[in-house]
Amino acid sequence: MKVTILNGSPKGDLSVTLQYAEFIKKKFPQNRYTTFNIAQKIKKIEAEPAEFKKIMTSVKESDAVIWAFPLYYMLVHGSYKRFIELIFERKAGVAFKNKHTITLSTSIKFFDNTAHDYMHAICDDLQMQYVGYFSASMSDLKKNEKQKQLTLFAKSFFKAVNNNEQFSQSYSPINYKQIKYNPAKPKPVIDNSLYKIIILSAGIKPKSNLENLINYFCGQFTKDIERIDLSKEDIKTGCLGCCHCGYDNTCIMENKDGYVNLFKSRIQSADIIIVADQIHDRYLSSKWKTFLDRSFFNTHKPSLLNKQIGFLISGPYSQTGGTLQTTLQGWCEFQKAGNIGVVTDEQNSSKTTDNLIRDFAARASWGLQNQYITTDTFLRVGGFKIFRDEVYCALQIIFQADHTYYKKNGYYDFP
Ligand SMILES: Cc1cc2nc3c(=O)[nH]c(=O)nc-3n(C[C@H](O)[C@H](O)[C@H](O)COP(=O)(O)O)c2cc1C
Repeated sequence: MKVTILNGSPKGDLSVTLQYAEFIKKKFPQNRYTTFNIAQKIKKIEAEPAEFKKIMTSVKESDAVIWAFPLYYMLVHGSYKRFIELIFERKAGVAFKNKHTITLSTSIKFFDNTAHDYMHAICDDLQMQYVGYFSASMSDLKKNEKQKQLTLFAKSFFKAVNNNEQFSQSYSPINYKQIKYNPAKPKPVIDNSLYKIIILSAGIKPKSNLENLINYFCGQFTKDIERIDLSKEDIKTGCLGCCHCGYDNTCIMENKDGYVNLFKSRIQSADIIIVADQIHDRYLSSKWKTFLDRSFFNTHKPSLLNKQIGFLISGPYSQTGGTLQTTLQGWCEFQKAGNIGVVTDEQNSSKTTDNLIRDFAARASWGLQNQYITTDTFLRVGGFKIFRDEVYCALQIIFQADHTYYKKNGYYDFP
């Protein structure tokens, strides 16, 4: 059997996740495996058609595909996300059709479910036979019991491939036709002279629905609003996964590109942050995801505390399958921010969208003035118990800055 392994770690061969794939290779040596370091080599894969083709040819000639990835901000790494976008943009999905597949991750199990759900939906979109997931903690491979579980998982996968077992799809295909959004002339009625609002986008096409959503939103306010277009900022790379930031929150790229300066000077100084982006496959853009990944230099601490955060989204948000909604909510809860909500351009009439944006803008302002922070759900309560225990135990040696912060701010609330 021929198996293609698609590694989603920016660390390439040094990836922890890859060791789990290596373990499968050792246990099942009768198969022929080909591994590609997707996230690490994304620039080359994107720039050189021959590189992309090599991967697609391997997938096409394979009987099975393993999506092996580390968790990055509740999903996959931004560069792995870009690879998924390339598959659809270049209409190369046919190589994946009917192939049996699994998802294999390592993480601290903070939103591992959303990452696997996202990948499952992508596999369904590619019309693959999705056999199942294996979500490992970083050091599980050292445990006999976990080795046995992984061996059985791989065994059941290869059995499914050999017997051509069939699996039903969990996600309906996205069926979307954009309705043109033509906003009315906005009335600037909200006085924003005493606070700062920013629009964070990742490339906007002129006269697009997204641009119209943003313009109508900005038009509700009396003063100009700063617009940050991530595609024009000096962001040279995705997060390298080096964890250099763990000691004192210094990003290894700090003096090599403009990301840290952008984050500290223009984003953290805002009171209201509006993320404005387009749906790409089942999530937002990989550019936005890369932005999120790079914000990890703040490690496991909230970096947008008490801000109001909202989302203007163009595209089939309501069909993405829930992962996007959960991760946006989880991100706001994790930041201890006010979640203003989402407005999309999926409405049947432009007037409805206008009304939604008008009320959304008013809520943002009201939330700020009243310092309204959205209540925690399981997402933050559960997530923070994981962070608390991990930072106290296994992660403390690397994430010293978190440990100091957690101690100082009463985050060690053990029963
Ligand atoms: C920027 C960054 C973001 C991360 N986000 C998550 C996360 O959302 N959930 C989680 O459980 N682990 C998260 N992790 C932990 C990694 O998933 C974990 O360390 C993984 O084992 C790394 O695998 P790799 O060596 O294959 O890259 C994150 C790590 C980094 C560096």
